[in-house]
Amino acid sequence: MVKVERVRGTRDFLPAEMKKRREMERIMREVAIKWGYEEVQTPTFEHAELFTLKSGEEILKEMYEFVDKGGRHLALRPELTAPVIRMFVNELKMARKPLRFFYFGNCFRYEEPQRARYREFWQFGAEIIGADSPEAQAEIIALAHEILNALHIKGSIEIGHVGILRDFLAKLSEESGVSLNEDEKNRIMRLIDKGAKGQIEEFMRAKGFKEDAIADLFGMVSLRGEDALKEAREMLRSGDGENGENSRGTALDKLRELEAVAELLSEGYGTPFTLNLGIARGLDYYTGLVFEIYAEAEKLGAQRQICGGGSYRIAHLFGGEDTPSTGFAFGFDRLSEIFPFEAPSDLKVVVVPVLRKADAGLRRDLQIAALKTARILRSHFVTLTDVLGRNLSAQLAYADAIGASFAVIIGERELKEGRVTLRNLRTGEQESVSVEECVRKIKEQECSKEG
Ligand code: HAM
Repeated sequence: MVKVERVRGTRDFLPAEMKKRREMERIMREVAIKWGYEEVQTPTFEHAELFTLKSGEEILKEMYEFVDKGGRHLALRPELTAPVIRMFVNELKMARKPLRFFYFGNCFRYEEPQRARYREFWQFGAEIIGADSPEAQAEIIALAHEILNALHIKGSIEIGHVGILRDFLAKLSEESGVSLNEDEKNRIMRLIDKGAKGQIEEFMRAKGFKEDAIADLFGMVSLRGEDALKEAREMLRSGDGENGENSRGTALDKLRELEAVAELLSEGYGTPFTLNLGIARGLDYYTGLVFEIYAEAEKLGAQRQICGGGSYRIAHLFGGEDTPSTGFAFGFDRLSEIFPFEAPSDLKVVVVPVLRKADAGLRRDLQIAALKTARILRSHFVTLTDVLGRNLSAQLAYADAIGASFAVIIGERELKEGRVTLRNLRTGEQESVSVEECVRKIKEQECSKEG
């Protein structure tokens, strides 16, 4: 017989894990809904081109692609931003903007599996469609922070701006007399995202950048903390004459945008963050502010990035109007590794018909009485009944094994009297009661236990 294993990079979730995941989901949904976001769901697979149009090389290398029986080139979604924007273009182009959506769904990336890096993983994300203003950006970051707070997870938020980085790169290209095509610019951005300094140097040298220019780029991406904006302004101005507003005007506007977001976050939302101009993100579609959140927990090892997001424009690629949008996605599985959670032990009641080798008619009557009793108990408690026709002691042993707190026993005598025997499985005490009393007594005993 062949033993069929789980596919590499995927996981099974046993009941304890599912309880935790459902609780996290509940908390995250609740926060998003309070902020006026509405849940949407898109298909698990899409036309591959949805992702090949703009997401970038990194995602393409990792994409699960296939041709279906109708010859369509499809992909399992590696992320949910492109699908949500496709949905918007298909279904909601005329809706009043901004639209605020959130989603929770599985994603697929053919990555090298390791702790907290899987081939099937879940994202919980939110998008504001139709706005990438400082207000929208600040709201998205504050929402992500609020979700983390609600989960009691500590994370540090790092905010950068790919527009500034791209403009600075353009300035350096100009000064070095180098021209870069889109792919080459994206490549440098991805290398910055990976922190692959050696490869950046190698690539820029090969393209003919001057050593100073390479050093300046490293200088810009290392700007972090309170003075980052001031220093970035100096670097953008240098070489541009007195006020630096000529060709770098737009980059300075972007710095002001970042400044505005910083102010809204600190003064308006009270959200802590660090500016970090080295944040470049691994996806190509970002146009403006970008941010990442890193878990403070050691447990995640190298996979500490629990959230990523920013402003982007992709609707025009899918046949819609150019629509500025802003969003984020949490790596749900990474959060679940560090979510502090103790599963509440649910109260379980087992209804036990005493099925001695009684005659068939009596056995049936006992079983029916047990099912009827269970129907009543179920509107109050988690209630189980026997499905293997086992005797009393085997049923009680099972009740014990599944951690049941009470057994409601129905034998021939109980059947005749229209009563049941309620046994507290923790104390072993038992008493004869009516079904209504049984409900009340279980509730009372549970309360006194908790109290
Ligand atoms: P992303 O940074 O590629 O962004 O993914 C978001 C988060 O998903 C990451 O921060 C990480 O926690 C988690 N993640 C990514 N890959 C894996 C993996 N293989 N295993 C476990 N967790 C993983 C996006 O996908 C963008 N769509 C986010 C966004 C929304 N930007 C704007 N709106």
